[in-house]
Amino acid sequence: MNLITKITETASFIKSKSKIKPRVGIILGSGLGHFVQHMNVETRIPFNEIPHFIPPTVDGHSGHLILGSIDNVDLVVLQGRLHYYEGHSMEVVVFPTRAMAALGIEILIVTNSAGGYGDGMKAGDFMVIEDHINMMGTNPLMGPNIKELGPRFPDMTQAYDRELIETAERIFRSQKTFFHKGVYVGVTGPTYETPAEIRMFMQLGGKAVGMSTVPEVIAANHLGLRVAAISCITNLAAGITDNKLNHEEVTEVAKKVEQQFCSFLKLFVTKV
Ligand code: HPA
Repeated sequence: MNLITKITETASFIKSKSKIKPRVGIILGSGLGHFVQHMNVETRIPFNEIPHFIPPTVDGHSGHLILGSIDNVDLVVLQGRLHYYEGHSMEVVVFPTRAMAALGIEILIVTNSAGGYGDGMKAGDFMVIEDHINMMGTNPLMGPNIKELGPRFPDMTQAYDRELIETAERIFRSQKTFFHKGVYVGVTGPTYETPAEIRMFMQLGGKAVGMSTVPEVIAANHLGLRVAAISCITNLAAGITDNKLNHEEVTEVAKKVEQQFCSFLKLFVTKV
C-alpha cells in the first residue's frame, strides 16, 4: 500500500472517532505525558488501535493519540512517540506527524527531554529550540519525493517558526520561568553521547542533545507546517559533570518540572 493511502486511511479512522478539528498538534516527550490531564479530552485512542500506527517500546512513553481542547483551541496530542533507535524506519518514525497534518493541523509543537551543555544550564531548565543540527546520519525525506506531501528540496531556514519562538519566549517570561534558547543536536542514540561527542557539539554551536524531534521537524517542514519545539533539559550532557547518565534520572527530572511545563504549554496553545 502506498504511503498516501495509508495516511488517508489513518486520518479517516481518527476523524470517524472525533468531532475535533485540530489546528494545533503536540508531540509530548518522555515524562511530559500528563499534559493531557489539563485538556478537555474528547477521544483517547491507543496507538495499537490506529491503522498503520506502531506502539512505542520505551518506558515513560505511553502511546496514545488524544483529541480534545484547551480554552476552545482544538488539539491533537501524541502521548508517546516513535524513535529511530527503536529500529523503525524514518518513514515509520514520522508517520504520526504526517497523520496529524492530514487531520488539518497548521502548527506542530514538539517537546522532548534533552541533555544540556549550554552555558549555565542545569537539570530542570527549559530550552526553546531555535534551530537544529541533524546528526542522525539520515533524513526522513530520503527516497522518492511524495509531491502530495511537499517539495523535493524543502527549505529549512526557519525550520522553527520565528513568531512561535517569540511567543514561547513571551510566555516563559510572563510566567517568570527561566529558559534558554538554542540549537538542538539530534542523534540516533540509544547510547548517550561520549564526552568527546559533547565537546564537538559545543564547538558546533549546540546547547542541547537528544534522540528525537529532528525527524518530526523535518517531516513537518516538508508538509509546510509551522513548528515550535521545547526541550526539557533533564540532565547535563555526558562529561559536563562526572555523573554517569541513566534513563531513570531523565524521566525523574522531567516529572519534577512537568507542572511548570504544563502551565507553559497550556498558555502557549492558546496564543499560537
Ligand atoms: N543525550 C541524549 N538524549 C537525551 C539526553 C542526553 O543526555 N537526556 C535526555 N535525552
